[in-house]
Amino acid sequence: MPRIKELLVNGQALAVDVDDERTLLTVLRDDLDLTGSKYGCGEGECGACTVLIDGVAARSCQRKVRSLAGKKITTIEGLSPHGTLNALQQAFLDAGALQCGYCTAGMIVAAQSLLNKNPRPTESEIVRALDGNLCRCGTYTRILTAVTEAARRLGGAK
Ligand code: FES
Ligand code: FES
Repeated sequence: MPRIKELLVNGQALAVDVDDERTLLTVLRDDLDLTGSKYGCGEGECGACTVLIDGVAARSCQRKVRSLAGKKITTIEGLSPHGTLNALQQAFLDAGALQCGYCTAGMIVAAQSLLNKNPRPTESEIVRALDGNLCRCGTYTRILTAVTEAARRLGGAK
């Protein structure tokens, strides 16, 4: 069984020499040096490891690399490929929507997934979309402000 996998990460086709059973999260962090996605629970419960797969939020701790051929993977780093914060990242910064920051990448990526399919989310739609992402510092109110503001700046807020 060949071990080389081709992964499409942040717009780049990357060949990685990894075991089939490895999770996307460990490959991103340990092999590709993309450490923005965090290991929280490792069980699909906290959302710290959230990435986009074909534009939709997914728990990278739960995805084996063998299932990702031909899929477009976007990490938090891929949201600002030229080093300029995107609207969500900037809005999180402006709203002070983080304390320790451990949940932040997952929150932003989950919010990006929402805005990809619904550029004009209501407050309750934002809450629902981020419901599975946990913040132990309790910055939920500011996170809600940040996502609402990002949508508004992008021309979509209701
Ligand atoms: S680390 Fe993946 S959901 Fe918690
Ligand atoms: S800012 Fe610390 S876990 Fe969310």
